[in-house]
Amino acid sequence: MANTSPSTNSLENYFLPFTANKDFKKDPRLLDRGEGVYYWNHKGDQVIDASSGLFCVPLGHGRKEIAEAVHQQLLKLDYSPSFQVSHLPAFTLAEKVAKMLPGDLNNVFFTICGSTAVDSAIKIIQAYQHAIGQAHRMKFVSRERAYHGVNIGGTSLSGMIKNREIFTASMPGVIHLRHTWLEENKYTKGQSENGAHLADDLQRFVDMYGPESIAGCFVEPIAGSTGTLVPPKGYLEKLRATCDKYGIVLVFDEVITGFGRTGKAFGAIKYNVQPDMILMAKAITNGAQPMGAVGVSDKIYNAIVDNGPEHGVEFFHGYTYSGHPACVAASLATLDIYEKENIFEKAEKMSSYFLDAVFDTFTGIPAVTDIRGDGLMAAIDLAVDKAPGVRGYDAQKKTFANGVHIKFTGDAGIIAPALIAEEKHIDEMLQKIKEVVVQY
Ligand SMILES: Cc1ncc(COP(=O)(O)O)c(C=O)c1O
Repeated sequence: MANTSPSTNSLENYFLPFTANKDFKKDPRLLDRGEGVYYWNHKGDQVIDASSGLFCVPLGHGRKEIAEAVHQQLLKLDYSPSFQVSHLPAFTLAEKVAKMLPGDLNNVFFTICGSTAVDSAIKIIQAYQHAIGQAHRMKFVSRERAYHGVNIGGTSLSGMIKNREIFTASMPGVIHLRHTWLEENKYTKGQSENGAHLADDLQRFVDMYGPESIAGCFVEPIAGSTGTLVPPKGYLEKLRATCDKYGIVLVFDEVITGFGRTGKAFGAIKYNVQPDMILMAKAITNGAQPMGAVGVSDKIYNAIVDNGPEHGVEFFHGYTYSGHPACVAASLATLDIYEKENIFEKAEKMSSYFLDAVFDTFTGIPAVTDIRGDGLMAAIDLAVDKAPGVRGYDAQKKTFANGVHIKFTGDAGIIAPALIAEEKHIDEMLQKIKEVVVQY
């Protein structure tokens, strides 16, 4: 076993992502072990996981079947290139994922995370529009408060201010729809009645820039990282209709909502709107290996492939680790458990208990200014203190010290238990969060 015990200065060398590095190193929050819905920190304290890691561990931590599958795969074939050579399990996985995806998203392109799924999707759209003689479509549409990862394409699509404000040299031609948070929809459980009109922004962009100017439109069915913005009724349907009318490729970024988070396999199924592509990551391997994927419609895949040469590469894009054998093995084992244990059905059944519990626990607390959610995903907004994000950061630290892990973005706390969480686990995590929030 490698010696992992920190030497005196060892915290200095790790430049942590999306973390207050200076403050963290004074009082680090280190996880040492995970099992089921619990973590244990380096001091040996139990910490209940209210955000499924980063929304990526629906089956809970420490699933032996997944670890075993990865172990066996690495012993048999540790690495296979995916350019002009491949390995059979990757095809098996693509077929399984395609069967779970709605409609004709029968073609699965593997990536190494959510961010690379987003940037791959941008390039698939460009290749498609080129193939059908529409290369002049240069614009991409996204949304305020969107999170589409951190690569240059995804950063440009992103609508969360802090994630884009200093990264000025990004992809040009991105326009943002308004976000879907409305004052009058506060405290809505599930989809709000009001707000479909916000999708009319897409029509306005078409009117302003021309009917053949927009290549693709990216939305998260539920905007996740920004704090669980559930789509208003009719909103996604309107986007679909406008995309159909003007030849715009509609992409659902389901990196968080995919694989049961909404109570269905995908948000597209839950909200009954068919996109042209679905982006996946996180729960595709239960977080046990880094992996992402893009589900692509037959129309788009065929246009790109048919446009290519008879014996040459049709799409000049891919990663050294696309379809990595260990990730494929983790994913096959994960999807197997989803099916055998009826995980999505369980999540759907648990959703009303969960949402009721979130609303009952936090309604009436003075510092809580909004509650919302759908499926097994909810958020509470805390009143801004001093500056946006200050209270959320404080709550992040205090909740962890109180034995619960919850992801705060700004002042929004995002609650997303593992899909295997029982009522008692939900009660425990909410109680521990409440004990902190009532202090504000
Ligand atoms: C909707 C969405 N897209 C993309 C990403 C980026 O995924 P990754 O962190 O795996 O690159 C995330 C991550 O949270 C996400 O929520």
